[in-house]
Amino acid sequence: MSRILTGIQASGRPHLGNILGAIVPAVELSKDPKNESFLFIADLHSMTTVKNAEVMKANTHAVAAAWLACGFDTEKNFFYRQSRLAGLHTELMWYLNCQTPFPMLANAHSFKDKSDKLADVNAGLFTYPVLQAADIVLYQADFVPVGKDQKQHLEMSKDIAAAFNRTYGEVFVLPEPKIDENVMTIPGLDGQKMSKSYNNFIDIFLPEKELYKVIKKIVTDTTPLEEPKNPDTCNVFLLYKLLANPEQIAEMRANYLAGGYGYGHAKKALFELILDRFAEERKAFDYYMNNTDALEAKLVEGEKKVRQIAENTMHKVREVLGFL
Ligand code: ADP
Ligand code: TRP
Repeated sequence: MSRILTGIQASGRPHLGNILGAIVPAVELSKDPKNESFLFIADLHSMTTVKNAEVMKANTHAVAAAWLACGFDTEKNFFYRQSRLAGLHTELMWYLNCQTPFPMLANAHSFKDKSDKLADVNAGLFTYPVLQAADIVLYQADFVPVGKDQKQHLEMSKDIAAAFNRTYGEVFVLPEPKIDENVMTIPGLDGQKMSKSYNNFIDIFLPEKELYKVIKKIVTDTTPLEEPKNPDTCNVFLLYKLLANPEQIAEMRANYLAGGYGYGHAKKALFELILDRFAEERKAFDYYMNNTDALEAKLVEGEKKVRQIAENTMHKVREVLGFL
């Protein structure tokens, strides 16, 4: 049995890029009977940027609802908020802080990117990688699936855990990052990487009318309706291709090449495809967002399940530190 663990920041409603790039692959991984998956909302990490309680709560619910809607099985796996086990995560973080050299943290991209304006860097942002290491080794995770941007954080997690083991004995499993180099970068409305930070994302959970409005904003060129069009340079076609079956793709390609088929037609087809492909997920997302008690119940159940595992690790840790 491999223990797979990953954290998701509570940074807002997941968009199509997050869903295809992170959620769907992780849910697939979690279905393998040889794996048990720990999936948590990294709300303590989100505190480095989110400073409002209502926003934090809304983001947490949206992230949780999206994962449940995309089929994450909370009976087989573990689903929880980091903040509900904050005592354990931050206690371990302190112990790991005392094993972490200053230059390692000063070298982290998450800090370095902001270091030209140090007055805006909070200590949480500086020690962010140590909390991440604690999140992982607290549950003795074997594998940590993350996006490429998290590679350096994962290297640090492993180094920090190894440093602790060298000082106090083999307490922690050394976690291996699992970075799928093949995961495609999903393009946004303007063709660059879809991201909340670029405001070019498609929120597939929007009500139909609003969703259609967003899809109509996809940037295309000015080729007139009657003329043939190049599907391979068109953002609408690129997105369509990610979701359609081979026959649908071939038909759409033929439409582009034939001419007499406008970008408006293609956008309508993409809109309908999204509604069809994500019909179940949209329904489930709405259900959880309108029944946050059901959502909370799943999280609280998960928090109960993981607590014992975390407590067992911490017992061992406190013992080797000479605190028992
Ligand atoms: P955002 O850029 O919108 O803030 P995050 O950085 O929170 O997204 O990403 C959360 C997860 O979704 C990460 O695992 C990341 O690799 C994945 N992801 C985000 N945007 C895309 C994209 N455009 N294509 C593929 N995967 C993505
Ligand atoms: N830093 C990760 C991100 O921004 C989120 C995260 C926090 C995480 N703790 C983790 C990811 C532990 C994997 C394992 O995406």
